Amino acid sequence: MEITGKTKIMFVLADPIDHVRASAVMNAYFASIGDDLAVSPIHVLSGDLGRVVACIRLMRNVFGFGVTIPHKTCVIEHLDEITPTARLIGAVNFVKRTAEGRLVGDNLDARGFIASLAQHDVAVRDRKVLQVGAGGAGRATAFGLAEAGAREITIMNRNGEKARALAAAVAAHYPATKVSAGRADARTFDLIVNTTSLGMKPDDPLPLDIEGVGPGATVSDIIVNPAITRLLARAAAQGARAIGGKPMLDAQMALVARFVAR
Ligand code: ATR
Repeated sequence: MEITGKTKIMFVLADPIDHVRASAVMNAYFASIGDDLAVSPIHVLSGDLGRVVACIRLMRNVFGFGVTIPHKTCVIEHLDEITPTARLIGAVNFVKRTAEGRLVGDNLDARGFIASLAQHDVAVRDRKVLQVGAGGAGRATAFGLAEAGAREITIMNRNGEKARALAAAVAAHYPATKVSAGRADARTFDLIVNTTSLGMKPDDPLPLDIEGVGPGATVSDIIVNPAITRLLARAAAQGARAIGGKPMLDAQMALVARFVAR
């Protein structure tokens, strides 16, 4: 790919940087849709974040930047505004520069997740959802599911206090959705979502027991690598629909592409 003065530049700010794969995935995606856009990973230590953001403001061909661990929350104080979605989730993963040069923090996880389900014709409205995990990614999916009209959301997490706090926050904003925290029988749900990191390593235990979950149910795992986690393989073998994390990432990249093309 040829990078020229007309190429739109985007950064991904992270620490550590070695594990960052998002930039490679994004470059491949933007090349595949013919966008003249290049993404570069930048190693930024937490203490330098404010100064780096101030420098990016001066780089006129940088249309935005992604932020990942550990900057998703700390970046907020260095921006001009954040979207209501990012405020609810409490984290930013994409910062866009507006035509006026303002830096606006957004969080594309929730919309990307719901869009990935829609692409697989999985309805969320009026459905009963069991979510495992209440970390950063889990906050985004829980708010996304409520926004998309889920009838009931049950949040299960190793740390029960975090599950209860997330359930309360979602319930406060979406009174039409019945939100609770605690263990539940997976067989009674339409949609089961894993947002924990369990499944990234081959010897990880399953994040939950899905015995008896079969046709009619959907199991979604937002882990991108491996593409098919043990949970998804088990779900598919039992006849349930299985959706991995790659479509969620693709949907977020489509949102970025739409922003760039505006
Ligand atoms: P992310 O931003 O990717 O969501 P995170 O905020 O660290 O990362 O959240 C990780 C999630 O995976 C949490 O729900 C975490 O559970 P705890 O809140 O109890 O820590 C869950 N998780 C990670 N390792 C786990 C394990 N070995 N068993 C069960 N849950 C685990």
